[in-house]
Amino acid sequence: MTQIKAPDAGVPRMAGGISKETAAMTTAMTLASNDTEFHGLSADTAARSSDIRPISLQPPAHVSHTMTGHHGVQSDLCAQLEELADSLPDHVDTQMCVYISRRLCKIIRQSHEFEESVLFPLLESHSRGNGKLEATLERLRFEHWEDEAFAHEVADGLNGFVTQPESANVESLAYMLRGFFEGLRRHIAFEREHILPMLLRLDGVR
Ligand SMILES: [Fe+2]
Repeated sequence: MTQIKAPDAGVPRMAGGISKETAAMTTAMTLASNDTEFHGLSADTAARSSDIRPISLQPPAHVSHTMTGHHGVQSDLCAQLEELADSLPDHVDTQMCVYISRRLCKIIRQSHEFEESVLFPLLESHSRGNGKLEATLERLRFEHWEDEAFAHEVADGLNGFVTQPESANVESLAYMLRGFFEGLRRHIAFEREHILPMLLRLDGVR
């Protein structure tokens, strides 16, 4: 089995163990939901056309393509949040606030579900006993958990600004937006620099 190298890891956290059956089911559901986000297909249509195979047989090239798609959607989200933060309070587009607050948590959750149910198990299947990779993936799982909690706060903050602008703390909201998208950009940059090359190396040896 091909072994892959891992970058230095930070603080490890929770384990995300799931059964093979649950993982396979989640994979199919995630592929369906990803297609909905990326291509405007219904979940049913996407599910019928999805390449439903066990995680270990998912081609690394397909996984890297999906990962790149999620990164692109999240990067666009970061740009929109930065635009909102820059325009607060007088020039903000309230329609954009509503639009982003409704999509924010879903975008983040879909990306994390894909990585934790498809991408990470694929990497782990090629690196048994690689403590550095395991620690890295644990750190990324922890950052996912943090970002999902943070995304809910940001969505609530944007909602509050739209529905009760007179009582909104604009400085606090702008600070929160910047904290969220800056952290998310760092997470994406790390995955692009370290995780994506691992997938490309796997693809090269198959
Ligand atoms: Fe991630």
